[in-house]
Amino acid sequence: MPDSPPLRVAELFAGVGGFRVGLERADREAGREAFQVVWANQWEPSTKRQHAYEVYAARWPEGPHQNTDIAQVPAEAIPAIDVLVGGFPCQDYSVARTLNQAAGLAGKKGVLWWQIHRLLQEKQPRFGIFENVDRLLKSPATQRGRDFAVMLASLADLGYSAEWRMINAAEYGMPQKRRRVFIVVYRDDTPQAKRLRKDPAGWISKDGVIASAFPVCPLPLPGMLPGQPATFPLEGSLSDLTEAFNLRRRDVSPFANTGVLCGREVLTTKTVADHTGPRRTLGDLLLPEEQVPPQFFIAKTDLPDWRFAKGAKSLERTKRNGVTYTYDEGALPFPDPTDRPARTIITGEGGPTPSRFKHVVLTPGGRHRRLTPVELERINTFPDDHTAIPRVTDGKRAFFMGNALVTEIITRLGRSLARSVAGT
Ligand SMILES: C[S@@+](CC[C@H](N)C(=O)[O-])C[C@H]1O[C@@H](n2cnc3c(N)ncnc32)[C@H](O)[C@@H]1O
Repeated sequence: MPDSPPLRVAELFAGVGGFRVGLERADREAGREAFQVVWANQWEPSTKRQHAYEVYAARWPEGPHQNTDIAQVPAEAIPAIDVLVGGFPCQDYSVARTLNQAAGLAGKKGVLWWQIHRLLQEKQPRFGIFENVDRLLKSPATQRGRDFAVMLASLADLGYSAEWRMINAAEYGMPQKRRRVFIVVYRDDTPQAKRLRKDPAGWISKDGVIASAFPVCPLPLPGMLPGQPATFPLEGSLSDLTEAFNLRRRDVSPFANTGVLCGREVLTTKTVADHTGPRRTLGDLLLPEEQVPPQFFIAKTDLPDWRFAKGAKSLERTKRNGVTYTYDEGALPFPDPTDRPARTIITGEGGPTPSRFKHVVLTPGGRHRRLTPVELERINTFPDDHTAIPRVTDGKRAFFMGNALVTEIITRLGRSLARSVAGT
């Protein structure tokens, strides 16, 4: 049987191209072109220089890609697509808040989820793969789950079914403890959506695109048997749904780490990773000491500041209204253990200033040092020096990695989706 044509992909919020790196690796490993990125968009608000876009354009000079606010891009400017992908900015998902403030859908433009929504509506791709921080499932703090409920209901109204999973990359052998929510959406007329709707529980536990890529064991939800999912409808207009959540305080999200959406019906359950393969550690990817540039080594005189930053402490803080309170934080390991995966990389990982969150390792020669940009790329499973372009600092390269994702997750999801589409 001849290969089906590649799935045409548009990459939104592309950053330095984590989705594209992941999908291209899936193709290379499978030895066939299942995906073809036909359009990409990346724009950093409020900065003149567009560093991430510069990296993207340097890596894929052939284009087509755009450096414009996605909200300004008309759907007609984007070619026909089969798959829409993107990790949308995480500070920005308070979808229901804007719905509410604007008393309806009219004021939704500032929140970037609605750009994904608009392009699903206008381009009607068969599939979508989206990524966000795990907080997405429980936001906002006083009406937990409200924003995700609105997102799911808005997908159902567009004629999409969906599945989601909170994946910690380290639990599947990747070298970083990074927990992110992945959402895969299927247009309701696709064979995948039909199969999902026929057996939603089977889809999330073994048959689905996510479960095939990331096997799981089901766990019991409170008061339920292992694998017995909770089901509930998302009722009413998006504004009514928002109001229903706003009516009372909700400290626990109704959404567990795994779930599906079919129509306006949600089925959700708790799962744990089922992984027996190799596990990579921070130590596996470190450069030999002699290859580390001198600026990454920490002077002995600075070590007390690092120890303080990493140590347990109680800090007096003052709220905006002048009220003071004590903030306690526990100790973080110092130096970072190299026999385990790295902690989550954040955007502030770069630069020499002592910080609680930056990684510090002890070299075989007994010196403390920070991680180099190449090591940060390896932690996210990017190719070495992916972000090395002229006039981009090490601090910026660390920032890119704090924003990016573990590309191997996309490789595995891409491979699984391609297999499902090819019917194997
Ligand atoms: C969470 S990061 C995604 C990173 C990407 N997955 C990667 O591998 O590098 C979100 C990206 O969206 C971009 N962004 C923010 N607002 C945007 C807008 N209005 N239009 C287009 N891109 C935007 C940010 O600059 C950032 O690079």
